[in-house]
Order: sequence, then structure tokens, then C-alpha cells
Amino acid sequence: MRSERTPMVAGNWKMYTTSGEGAILIDRVQDLVSDVADRVDVVVCPPFTGLKAASTIIEVDRLPIGLGAQDVFWEDEGAYTGAIAPRMLVELRCGYCIVGHSERREYFGETNETVNRKVLALHRHGITPIVCCGESLGTYEAGQTADFVRTQIREGLAGLTAQQASGVIVAYEPIWAIGTGHTPTPETANDVARMIRATIGAMYGPPAAVSARVLYGGSVKPENAAMFFSEPDIDGALVGGAALKAGAFSDIVHAAS
Ligand code: PGA
Repeated sequence: MRSERTPMVAGNWKMYTTSGEGAILIDRVQDLVSDVADRVDVVVCPPFTGLKAASTIIEVDRLPIGLGAQDVFWEDEGAYTGAIAPRMLVELRCGYCIVGHSERREYFGETNETVNRKVLALHRHGITPIVCCGESLGTYEAGQTADFVRTQIREGLAGLTAQQASGVIVAYEPIWAIGTGHTPTPETANDVARMIRATIGAMYGPPAAVSARVLYGGSVKPENAAMFFSEPDIDGALVGGAALKAGAFSDIVHAAS
């Protein structure tokens, strides 16, 4: 039985697409997903340079597509060369922002503490964070996934108000599944999703646990999406590679509807 939670499929475009290429991709995606857009929250997360064009298309054509950034800095403004502040994303009508993706943790020194600062900063500005967590292959093979991910959630989601906690979106993405074609079984992914939900419940109470959305990410494709979405604690997907192809992304969105 499907829960009350609206499924979400978010495309993480990573460092792909110029703003012109992104505009074409959004047009194609929109044509293909409009029939289910009232049942699935569809979100695209272009690179920073593509946000303006994407925002304009979504606004002018009144597309039922959410817009997200892939990162943010936690200060409101200041001498932070190269950084982007939450209110700059607000201006571009970004409703969402990915935080703590494993690639940011690996290449840009993101920690649970900086993730938390970003999460709190986004909430101050009314942007919903999509908070990523997930273990390395070594941690998985050592059977330490639950402990590792629980700590990521406890530290990354600390300090929320009850209202903020009820809107939490977490993406569970095992690092070893990202871009590799390997995935955990849907049952294993659901076990971790359930643990994430329980952790949110322990931090913020049962209503937050029930309403929080947990996405699975890591090599989600049209061929495997439905299996993950049939699991009770998985509310959708954060999609990388397959989000760059309108047809594949649309198939995943339909699997969630
Ligand atoms: P992938 O990436 O779908 O290409 O595995 C997912 C992600 O990194 O969010």
C-alpha cells in the first residue's frame, strides 16, 4: 500500500549540461512527464550556471517541475570567493538544494558538520534540502552501514524545528552504487531507508518519521526503478546518469507514479 507521502524523482545533473543544453533537456522532460506531474514531485538540479535559464523556462511555461541546486554555502553573503548563498537560490526560485552528496564529501571536503550548517541555512531561507548520505564499499562490506549512515543523519539533520523536520528529504546513496551499475537489493536499500526514518523519529518524533521522504540513489535506471519504488520506506529516487536522458528520466518518473 502506498503511503501518504508524495513520491519524488529528482535529477542530479552533476557537472553536465551548459545552460542551453539544460534548457533543451527540461523541455524534453516536461513533454514526457506532464501526465503524471500531479502524482510525482519531479525536480531537476542543473549546475549553478544553468539555474537561471531553467528557472525562466519553468516560470514562463508554468511547468510543474521543481528546481534544485546541487550545493550552497551557509553564509548569507560575504567574502567567500566562488560560493553561492541561499538567497541567490531563492531569487532563482529554487525550491530544493542537494546537500552532502558523496562527491562533494570526497572532492570538496564536505563533512557532517558543514552539511548541517548548509541544511540550517537553507531552512532559514525556505529552501528544502535534499540531504545525501551513504556508505563506502569498505563500510558496506564491514557490515557498518547502519552505524555510519545513522551518524550522518544525526549530525547532518541536527537542530531542526519540528516543522522543518516534518519536511525532511534524505537521499540514501551507497557510494559504491553511484555511477557503477551496481545496486543494493531493494530490500537492503529499504532496510537502510527504514533505519533513516527511525533515526529521524528518534530525533524529532513519530510525525516527522512518518512524513519524511527517503529517496534511494545510485544507478537508478528505468529497468530497476520500480523495484525500489515498491519498497514501503523508499519514496522515490535521486537520479544521476539516467537524468541526462529525457526518455530514461521520464520512465523512472512514471515508475514512481
Ligand atoms: P547515478 O548517480 O544515478 O549516476 O548512479 C546518482 C547520484 O549521484 O545522485
